[in-house]
Amino acid sequence: MNIEIFQVSDLDQMMVFLDDNLTENYEKKVFLTIHQRWPEGFLIVKDHGNIIGVGCGAILPNEKLRILILALDKKFQGRGLGKEIMSRMIKASEVYGVRKVTLEVRKDSDAINFYRKLNFSRVDILPCYYQDGCDGIVMERQL
Ligand SMILES: CC(C)(COP(=O)(O)OP(=O)(O)OC[C@H]1O[C@@H](n2cnc3c(N)ncnc32)[C@H](O)[C@@H]1OP(=O)(O)O)[C@@H](O)C(=O)NCCC(=O)NCCS
Repeated sequence: MNIEIFQVSDLDQMMVFLDDNLTENYEKKVFLTIHQRWPEGFLIVKDHGNIIGVGCGAILPNEKLRILILALDKKFQGRGLGKEIMSRMIKASEVYGVRKVTLEVRKDSDAINFYRKLNFSRVDILPCYYQDGCDGIVMERQL
């Protein structure tokens, strides 16, 4: 497995990956903007050329890194890859003087426990945040 910086040529395969692995629907062109704004923070994991994981984020003006997507194919979860992607994104954000990491996660998601393990704490709730009406939990970690 290789963790690599996303290339525009990965876009179509990544859209299929997101469709298979996340409940939200995303617009393709959004990812071109995310990539343009912070290419070093847009990571994909490949296994034999197939995308099996994605992590991307945005640097906010107030010294914050916002994680937009972090997802791994079910078969590749629990092998340390999520933690590694997070740590690479945080490392890439250092040059911007980032002091806090923020993200939203579904209230019904097991990923909340993963983020707790990575020292994130729940700071807010966003009612009906997701397309299916599920609440969002805002979690943050001080760096
Ligand atoms: C959440 C997710 C990104 C975690 O990535 P992962 O590669 O499976 O997690 P890791 O193997 O890196 O785990 C890192 C640590 O968190 C712990 N952990 C991972 N998932 C956990 C869970 N569901 N509950 C409790 N602990 C968990 C691991 O045990 C590990 O602990 P350790 O460092 O003491 O060994 C991944 O499971 C995933 O893609 N889930 C589906 C998509 C999703 O929900 N994404 C989040 C949307 S915001």
